[in-house]
Amino acid sequence: MATTQPERQILVVGNDPVLLPRLQQLAAAHRMALQMVPGPEHLKGTENPAILVVPVSRQLLDFYARWKDAHPDCLLAAWADAPEHELWVGASAAGCDLVVNKGALDLVLAEQLQAWQAQGVLVQPRRRLPVKRLANPGEGLVGRVPDAPDGPIAVFRLEGRLCAFRDVCPHAGFSLSDGAFDADSGILTCPAHGSQFQVCTGARMRGPADFPI
Ligand code: FES
Repeated sequence: MATTQPERQILVVGNDPVLLPRLQQLAAAHRMALQMVPGPEHLKGTENPAILVVPVSRQLLDFYARWKDAHPDCLLAAWADAPEHELWVGASAAGCDLVVNKGALDLVLAEQLQAWQAQGVLVQPRRRLPVKRLANPGEGLVGRVPDAPDGPIAVFRLEGRLCAFRDVCPHAGFSLSDGAFDADSGILTCPAHGSQFQVCTGARMRGPADFPI
């Protein structure tokens, strides 16, 4: 495990022609060094950077976990071209501190760097949150995390898998977990105005909500 403080450096895996110039601007604005390596196999011998930028990839899930284990103070920021919900959740569970769309990455990192400057904390420690389990041995709602910092979380079981999502409808903010759940399709219907979502992918199946969960 790294014991030294992170360098004021942004290390970027991959030479993405859109992303790299934006990150170079970001680094210059915050007086940070920027180094690019073509792949994660080239990270051996590099400094302990403040930020490591990586693409989201199924093949890299093990790498994220190993890197985060060895560099807990480094902000591991992953970017993706497409919002593939399950892969994003997998990258986050593997240890990525941020998983965002490529187009938003430099803006999100700028916010993180401002917070680092103001509060002296770049990587927020992960917290375990207590789940209130419900007596449901079958499919559907099996637990809630009512006091999560970013709003209540609902946990559903579907085909033996546990899927968690923010229990707030993106249409008008009603609690989704009180809605009707169809275990065959995995679709949950918002009790307020009928928006429908797939509980394990978060996909929006029907409006009036405009966004997935
Ligand atoms: S609050 Fe869920 S559909 Fe309106």
